[in-house]
Amino acid sequence: MRGYLVAGNWKMNGSIAANTTLVSGIIAGSPANESVELLVCPPFPYLAAVSCSLSDSQVRLGAQSISEHESGAFTGETAGSMLREMGCEYAIVGHSERRALMGETSEIVAAKFQAALAAGLKPILCVGETLEQRAAGQTEAVIDEQLNTVLDATGIDAFDSAVVAYEPVWAIGTGETASPEQAQDVHRHIRAVLADRNEDVAGKVRILYGGSVKGDNAAGLFSNPDIDGGLIGGASLKFEDFLAIADAAAAVQQG
Ligand code: PGA
Repeated sequence: MRGYLVAGNWKMNGSIAANTTLVSGIIAGSPANESVELLVCPPFPYLAAVSCSLSDSQVRLGAQSISEHESGAFTGETAGSMLREMGCEYAIVGHSERRALMGETSEIVAAKFQAALAAGLKPILCVGETLEQRAAGQTEAVIDEQLNTVLDATGIDAFDSAVVAYEPVWAIGTGETASPEQAQDVHRHIRAVLADRNEDVAGKVRILYGGSVKGDNAAGLFSNPDIDGGLIGGASLKFEDFLAIADAAAAVQQG
């Protein structure tokens, strides 16, 4: 059975003082339900300190991005081996902000996905359509391109340890969430695309929803059969908000 994963993407937010409050609050308030995994993804400079703070806890550490290269003359980049050494277990790849703002194509995202796996990290592959693409009826086509480019490069077995996050671009940071039905439709489609390659793997992959998830809409989303948790931006920056989402996952898990 797939457990829930509630992942906090802090984006470019935080400070030593704020992170200390946030992390200690999350550790103290984590639900005592082992099938709900909590993950925080701080900005790179804070990984080492947050890793130390998490060392005696069950809360996992992840990176917001990763270089597709192993080492060398890539100024400003961070290799997967470095992230592993800092205690990261996960790396987000293909977040829509990086696709839109840093020009990351699906081919680059596929290379980053492979670099994460090669370093022993679990990639969290983000996919999702813009409002214009949804309005034009292109949601599934966009997702197919983003997903199949990675699948063609890595093969389905690479998804054994991977996570997929469906993040409609129009719902990120806007306060507008996909309805549970809209999200479940796309999650079902994502699982079907994976199942076309291998049903067993598709059945095990956790598919997170991301885009304005909050404590009061999390349970409605998480109670759908193909939604296995959330990738949380804004609401991951206050431990009370993040824990409200974790509690919703725990409550749905317990039935
Ligand atoms: P949001 O961000 O929760 O602030 O909408 C989600 C994300 O970008 O991962």
